[in-house]
Amino acid sequence: MKFREHLARLESDRRLLRIGTRVSPRFEIPALLKRNEGRPVLFENVEGSELPVAGNLLSSMDLLGASLGIRKEAWIETLTSAMQHPGPVREGRGEFVYSEPDLDRLPILTHYPKDQGPYVTSAVVFAERGGSKNLSFHRLAKIGRDRFVGRLVEKRDLHTMYLDARDHGEDLPVAIGIGNSSGVLVAGATSVERGTYELGIAAALEGAIEITRAKTNPTSYPVDTEIVLEGRIVHDETAREGPFVDLTNTYDVVRVQPVFVIDRIAMRPGAVFHALLPGGNEHRILMGAPRTPTIHRALTDAGLSVRNVHLTEGGSGWLDVVIAIDKRSEADPRTAIDAAIRGHRSLKKITIVDRDVDVTDPNEVNYAVTMYWEAGKERVFTDSKGSSLDPMATPDGIGSKLGIDATRPLVVPPEKELKMKRAEFPSGA
Ligand SMILES: Cc1cc2nc3c(=O)[nH]c(=O)nc-3n(C[C@H](O)[C@H](O)[C@H](O)COP(=O)(O)O)c2cc1C
Repeated sequence: MKFREHLARLESDRRLLRIGTRVSPRFEIPALLKRNEGRPVLFENVEGSELPVAGNLLSSMDLLGASLGIRKEAWIETLTSAMQHPGPVREGRGEFVYSEPDLDRLPILTHYPKDQGPYVTSAVVFAERGGSKNLSFHRLAKIGRDRFVGRLVEKRDLHTMYLDARDHGEDLPVAIGIGNSSGVLVAGATSVERGTYELGIAAALEGAIEITRAKTNPTSYPVDTEIVLEGRIVHDETAREGPFVDLTNTYDVVRVQPVFVIDRIAMRPGAVFHALLPGGNEHRILMGAPRTPTIHRALTDAGLSVRNVHLTEGGSGWLDVVIAIDKRSEADPRTAIDAAIRGHRSLKKITIVDRDVDVTDPNEVNYAVTMYWEAGKERVFTDSKGSSLDPMATPDGIGSKLGIDATRPLVVPPEKELKMKRAEFPSGA
């Protein structure tokens, strides 16, 4: 659903909290977003900017599902299908008002006291080079009226495009979208094979996507984007990036990163600025939601019968997964642990449970682990490629992993049979 339609729907469903009093983009809005996790908020009166700010828009799986018309239970299947069968991307007509680059006009939030400064966190960067097109999220720290320093994770598509341009002494033209449709936000967070146009995924989720060309460069972006910053990742300038709070609510390390120069701002009349709280639910959901289908696929490719996959909140929606399987052999949990890691390298903890366990309920999962784990049913990996977000790993993410088999044995001696399953009331009682 388009950003504005999603807001209107939330309003008509009485799920939107409107705050009309004057609030500051420095710490105050982020703190209010934190306090209202799971509840969308519209800040109508923001200090220092004419633009309203909306946040927590996709801060639960229910909200994400509602905005795309997908039931929570159908998420994995629907996204898997969208990744395999892209929807139509067509030329459309944008209704933008263009202005000179002045980032001071935007209500860019400063989230936490130790932050480098104001950061755009909801930006999806559109880029095209050498026939390939990419969209991905990149946090952008404002370092001037027309400048950001942006975090480009190494070896990801945008980083590769940037290096290629830089090696040719060229800038990489980009369009930076703020206030994107839900499909674009999900597509921007997926990692797909190079050459796959991620907008096709967004189009599959939304039915179709209409795009238009930037005025100052050849990049295309969806016509319903609220704010578009047309610019370039420049080949000859870098700057210090960070500190910044990441997914895990802890600070990422400070690095030297590429500088983005903005040439033009395009805004839809009545534009709303999308704020995304770093380390908040929306951040975790957008990061994690595209990974569950990848993990699911790795498990089915390994021949397993999978009931459900859940990246837990306690694991920041990224590091910890619970997987329910139809266990058919005692080797299945071990196979599942290995496959899950192949599906999502960043995992630090993998718990395998039986099909009847609700993977979204931490108490149920803990019950299964406490009841059915015993020594030897775990796998410990050391010096393993994991996540750079794991505080115990090296900065490159080399660290430990733990896989736990919390499934019941398939065959138990008769005297233990009653001990293995919870007592149930007769049906109809
Ligand atoms: C809210 C959010 C913020 C993100 N911030 C960054 C970032 O600052 N830098 C980065 O390289 N990736 C960031 N990511 C991750 C990438 O956008 C995402 O992993 C994407 O899969 C990378 O796409 P690619 O594999 O096509 O390059 C973020 C993801 C989300 C959901």
